[in-house]
Amino acid sequence: MKTIVINASPRKKWNTAEVMEAAQKGAESVGAETEFINLSDLVFKGCRSCLVCKKKDKTKGKCYWNDDLTEVIEKIFDADCLLIGSPIYFGEPTSEFRALLERLIFCVMSYDDGSSYFRGKVNVGIFYTMNAPRQFYEESMKDNLSSIEFLFSYLNGEIKSYPVCDTLQVGDYSKYNMGGFSQELKEKQLVLQYPKDIEEAFKIGAELSKGFK
Ligand SMILES: Cc1cc2nc3c(=O)[nH]c(=O)nc-3n(C[C@H](O)[C@H](O)[C@H](O)COP(=O)(O)O)c2cc1C
Repeated sequence: MKTIVINASPRKKWNTAEVMEAAQKGAESVGAETEFINLSDLVFKGCRSCLVCKKKDKTKGKCYWNDDLTEVIEKIFDADCLLIGSPIYFGEPTSEFRALLERLIFCVMSYDDGSSYFRGKVNVGIFYTMNAPRQFYEESMKDNLSSIEFLFSYLNGEIKSYPVCDTLQVGDYSKYNMGGFSQELKEKQLVLQYPKDIEEAFKIGAELSKGFK
């Protein structure tokens, strides 16, 4: 049982990283072998549209562009579970998350009939962290982000998405021009809700990493 854990935030010690560390611990609690990858440590591009993966004389389901994502993509295809987290930037996951998604999924997507070339099964847990309150996420963001679940369905596994809302973006808001946020409310959320989110990340990490063949 192998679980790949990915932090798609450029910050290696903040909200998304903490959520992903909790998810990793959850996976390990059910005996999965895990590897934690910070995408910000790697040098890579999104899909180059080289279309080599669609050529008739090439093996299907493989991304032929070579950079630091090559090994990550291979590790995900070999794994039983992928746990990936990203902050929300302007309503979407980060560009690093997006680049990985393009490279990972385009090569397994058939342009003949839309089916998946991928023959394995990788469960996927997607974690988003954001400033937005939970209600805003439910009403205005969730539907849009469901397209990401659809893309991960090309890996044939179970998929779960979890939003971590109203995160603390900086330690001391009084030092920043961020008057739209209240330190008091952010800290309240940090004490009352964030520990529950961490617990939930642990549970999802465990659930998606257990019960393999
Ligand atoms: C460039 C940028 C854009 C952002 N856009 C949004 C947004 O559209 N919606 C939102 O809720 N939060 C937004 N945020 C806030 C982050 O999503 C939030 O603080 C997140 O928890 C940060 O994750 P991190 O602590 O792992 O870096 C944005 C932050 C940055 C830096």
